[in-house]
Amino acid sequence: MPRNIFYIRTFGCQMNVHDSDQLATMMVDDGFEQTEDVRQAQVILVNTCSIREKVAQKIISQIGRYRQLKENNPDLVIGVGGCLAQHWGTSLLKKNVGIDFVFGPHALDKVPEMISRVQKRGGAIVDTAFRTGITSLNICPRPHNGDLQAFVTIMQGCDNFCSYCVVPNLRGREESRPSQDIINEIRFLVAHGVKEVTLLGQNVNSYGKGLDEGICFSDLIKSIDAIDGLERIRFTTSHPKDLTDDLVDRFGKLGKLCEYIHLPFQAGSNSILARMNRGYTREDYLARVERLREVCPDIAVSSDAMVGFPGETTADFEATLEMMEIIRFDNLFSFKYSEREGTKAVSLDQKVPEKEKSRRLNLLQALQDRHTLERNKAMVGKTVEVLVEGISKNSSKDMMGRTRTNKIVNFRGPEQLHGKTVNLHITAGYLHSLRGELS
Ligand code: 5AD
Ligand code: SF4
Repeated sequence: MPRNIFYIRTFGCQMNVHDSDQLATMMVDDGFEQTEDVRQAQVILVNTCSIREKVAQKIISQIGRYRQLKENNPDLVIGVGGCLAQHWGTSLLKKNVGIDFVFGPHALDKVPEMISRVQKRGGAIVDTAFRTGITSLNICPRPHNGDLQAFVTIMQGCDNFCSYCVVPNLRGREESRPSQDIINEIRFLVAHGVKEVTLLGQNVNSYGKGLDEGICFSDLIKSIDAIDGLERIRFTTSHPKDLTDDLVDRFGKLGKLCEYIHLPFQAGSNSILARMNRGYTREDYLARVERLREVCPDIAVSSDAMVGFPGETTADFEATLEMMEIIRFDNLFSFKYSEREGTKAVSLDQKVPEKEKSRRLNLLQALQDRHTLERNKAMVGKTVEVLVEGISKNSSKDMMGRTRTNKIVNFRGPEQLHGKTVNLHITAGYLHSLRGELS
């Protein structure tokens, strides 16, 4: 019996990338073999994202291309998973002839079994059930040799129901992992050479809710900080309404917690924030950032923002720009509002025309580029700690690493520095990176 060769294609967020890594680990443990060449595959798995319409359209055309491979390989099995699969369920099978099975984000551990059912008996299968205590949460992707960084899921799902967002519908209710499982996983990763972990969850700040342990996110970080051999801790994503003083205070005090936070603000106008059901005001947000900078003056702050939410007037949009001027984010991920079926915002009136959304996005991105450049140039002359990740993408003569504030630095240095922490003197700041010298 030839070994079952599989190929995984992932769309969307870090959470999906991590889910795919877990799935691949599970499949390899089950006797499957992974390939990077889709034409070699007997099984193609597509892990999908549904956060914005544009991403969803791209995925559908990609699935269409994979389907064509069945013409030369009739035994090819195609499985589609993740958020889009959860959203469309059985109707995905009707829409796309050629998909053999559909698995939701809670059915990752069912995939090997689903493949063997399809191979034995044929016919399409769908598993989009929501479950608690998902087994796959405890699957630790095997670190690749030389990996310095790893993602660790600490919770999944979301209870916030921001009015534009599909995540609570598609990923289910919040569920935190027991802290000991998380700590054991990080110890395992560290034993395999990992130096930096990013704790993952849709809303990491509400970690602990529903656990018997009586633990909160800032307690968890403190325990992780005590793990020997670990050098850096990051986390994503934070919700401004749940960012406690306790957690903010950890930034100044815990040695391994990096001076970086991703804190989505979405919009600068209070009426839009209320329509989005974000649970904080512009003033609350500004006060959170002010406190973060008081406790930790060097902290880098990145954020997400959206333009063209229903009802966003020019004045509302200007309030977003004004907020950016006040805060001056180190980095900003920005999007045009995209209507998603099943969300509350669908029923809101005063939709913004697509052309106007594009105009606003361009203005916002131009402003952010100015701020990013300004923040990066402000690093010139400083000496910063950099974890060396490998050879630079720009030049094979250079090495690259990342500062604790999550900025990329290129510098001249020997390859043997890979995995080491070095101090670099920053000599130049650009839009996407810094330049440094060994000091
Ligand atoms: N339209 C546009 N952007 C969205 N996001 C989430 N849902 C939507 C949507 N319907 C953005 C938010 C969120 C980021 C992950 O994606 O800014 O923080
Ligand atoms: Fe979506 Fe809001 Fe939950 Fe983030 S916090 S996943 S934007 S509902």
